[in-house]
Amino acid sequence: MYRVDGAFFANSHASLSKTDSRHELIISLHLQQYEDVVLAEFSDNLQLRNYWYSVATEVEVTNGVTGRQLLGEKLVLYRDSSGKVIAAPDRCPHREAPLSLGKVQDGTLVCCYHGWSFGENGKCVLIPSADPDFPIPKSGHLACYQADVRYGLVWVCLGDPVAGIPDIPQDADENFRRINNPVDAWAASATRMTDNFLDIAHFPWVHTGTFGNRQRTEVQKIDLKDLPNGFHGYEYDVVAENPPAAELTSGQGTGDVSRSMSTGFYLPFTVRSTIEYGTGLQHIILLLSTPIDDVNTYFTFVIWRNDDFRVSSEDVVLFDRMIGEEDRVMLEKIPGVLPMERGALANTQSDKPSTAWRMKFLQMLNPD
Ligand code: FES
Ligand SMILES: [Fe+2]
Repeated sequence: MYRVDGAFFANSHASLSKTDSRHELIISLHLQQYEDVVLAEFSDNLQLRNYWYSVATEVEVTNGVTGRQLLGEKLVLYRDSSGKVIAAPDRCPHREAPLSLGKVQDGTLVCCYHGWSFGENGKCVLIPSADPDFPIPKSGHLACYQADVRYGLVWVCLGDPVAGIPDIPQDADENFRRINNPVDAWAASATRMTDNFLDIAHFPWVHTGTFGNRQRTEVQKIDLKDLPNGFHGYEYDVVAENPPAAELTSGQGTGDVSRSMSTGFYLPFTVRSTIEYGTGLQHIILLLSTPIDDVNTYFTFVIWRNDDFRVSSEDVVLFDRMIGEEDRVMLEKIPGVLPMERGALANTQSDKPSTAWRMKFLQMLNPD
């Protein structure tokens, strides 16, 4: 449970005698090899590989080749000629050039180093330097991971899935529309993000530029329960600020609005927040945190709404993006992973959902 970073090795390097140049060269090579090495606190846990993570928008993969990192593993994503999304290690089987630096031509991924080309299901289909009759070696094909497209996003599982992609039945309901957002990288741990998305006590303090109401800081008693579609969390009512910037989202022009809400988690790092206004308008937000490594995370959110579709999607999401930005600014100031050991953090009753998530998350990491 500790971190080795470039700075640690760099300091060791600086303390070497400059006269010992051979030794210095060896250490320097060693440094190049290990400079980026991070001993993970959770992201190298093998259990995590058996879950689905959203890594990119569908559009990003449609427009060419995309490089991503999931649980410390570098990935390349592209669409093959059948339209299927392919996810594979971002390492060419020939000489390990990053495939994400290549190009997609007619559904074939072409490596930028020697032009080896990969088609359907990651199969190597061309080795330009070889006689066309030369059989392609088995090890020349890409070792693909499972990939799927759902809710406008590309999902990847590095292992054998033990749970499905979270089910949002409103996606198939024609009364609802879905609104997607870009996948951004936050310099924050997915553990801290999940903790934050389950927490309502920070609303009056962090969301002062949006819906936070400084007059209402006390959190009512929280009773945790199973919520629909495999989520676990709580239901609550809030009176939220409804500034002009929120009116298109809330569909109301009053100074504040009453919301019936639910917030729940789905392991490992998904949080769903549902909002129902007195008008019957429902606004569902799926908050998706995907660990790049322990302390960097892809974040995106998807919205479903049963409104009359008169307000443009861009205008509807503007307010939620402002809220997300307030969270990002706060979370990027908190270094490291959320401590998991019992007694490491002071808790109060409003931290009940996060405490429940941590317990289940730890059980998931250590099933025996
Ligand atoms: S490294 Fe990719 S073709 Fe040689
Ligand atoms: Fe927040």
